[in-house]
Amino acid sequence: MNTERSKKLFEEAKKLLPGGVSSPVRAIKPYPFYTKKANGSKITDIDGNEYIDYVMGYGPLLLGHNYPAIKEAVIKQLSDGWLYGTPTELEVKLAREIIALYPSIDMTRFVSTGTEATMGALRAARGFTRKNKFIKIEGGFHGAHDAALVKAGSGATTLGTPDSAGVPADFTKNTLQVPYNDIEAMTDAITTYKEDVAAVIIEPVLGNIGPILPKKGYLEDVRKVTEENEVVLIFDEVITGFRLAMGGAQEYYGITPDMTTLGKILGGGFHIGVIGGKREIMETISPAGPVYQAGTFNGSPVSMTAGLAMISALKKEKVHEIVNRKGDAMRKALGDVISDMRLDYNVSGISSMFKVFFGDMPYNYQDALKCDKEKFNSFFKKMLSDGIFLPPSQFETNFLSLAHSQDDINKTVEAYQRNLK
Ligand SMILES: Cc1ncc(COP(=O)(O)O)c(C=O)c1O
Repeated sequence: MNTERSKKLFEEAKKLLPGGVSSPVRAIKPYPFYTKKANGSKITDIDGNEYIDYVMGYGPLLLGHNYPAIKEAVIKQLSDGWLYGTPTELEVKLAREIIALYPSIDMTRFVSTGTEATMGALRAARGFTRKNKFIKIEGGFHGAHDAALVKAGSGATTLGTPDSAGVPADFTKNTLQVPYNDIEAMTDAITTYKEDVAAVIIEPVLGNIGPILPKKGYLEDVRKVTEENEVVLIFDEVITGFRLAMGGAQEYYGITPDMTTLGKILGGGFHIGVIGGKREIMETISPAGPVYQAGTFNGSPVSMTAGLAMISALKKEKVHEIVNRKGDAMRKALGDVISDMRLDYNVSGISSMFKVFFGDMPYNYQDALKCDKEKFNSFFKKMLSDGIFLPPSQFETNFLSLAHSQDDINKTVEAYQRNLK
């Protein structure tokens, strides 16, 4: 595979962008490929190589690249302008759709990213309860904002710097951490700091270190202990929202959180974030209440349009049924490869997410750290040379889309078989 043009571009990029990239996970070693275009399940680099893509923009592209209905809706919107600085009917319509699909949500605030959504949700929970601390899950990622950057997600974990420089200790002193799937630790943290715990923020399925699935009853227990102690439960569904089901993990597992954050899939590849929740909490947000939140691009007409087109496509095309079936097929085939080869590896995942862990099946962050990262890294490179683009980390989830064909899946499974050897 010739990647000379990417190699050359990266040499220049290193002088112009920190680490040569615009976001750390993209810094594939020794250099990343530079994308020229993408369509369906395929991504093509500037040297003309084509890859089957399981990164899918790190989650948003559930319908695949370049999905016609999203593109057409956005192009139509562009002809009427793309930024107004005023309210639009689009945001009212999209709020109506989301509220109908997520019974836990009475009101929404539209922001531009998942990071802004979790930052705003935590601020609202703190403003509402007038308490300061929040509990997050070790290894959970809620975006790159100061208070949440404590043992956060794959970028930080892979680089071996779980806590970021430049974040004063004062800014994280109210961030408590507990292991995933450990209700005793969660209960202990809540009861120890009861007077001052505003919220628990949790990815219902730990997507940024896995996927790692909740043990049976864990999410129910989290709901119970937060409710009993008047702690706001925030489901961060930036990855799981519109993926596990239209109504996200909360629909799939039948749990009702107090607040929800959404992003990724909803925007169909355009920038979006949603803070959603119970009316009494949401009405603390400015200008209705004293919790400040604002943004030039909040409720962007382009993103609102993409969101409406996305929901309409998801409803029409039975996407979840089809994509989840592909997920089952992929996990089963990879499980068979691993057991035929007698490897001590494990396939994790749910719906359209899958991952081969190079080690025992993890149930939390510490388990996941025991996987063989070196082996994964050399496997990743072999897969890339075979035209299969996986997320470049043992701790990032692979995503399937509506666009992935049976042929893509067969080629991918064959490549796993070849390269796991
Ligand atoms: C669960 C979760 N929350 C929040 C975020 C932050 O979203 P964004 O990258 O859109 O800021 C991410 C990003 O990967 C995420 O996975």
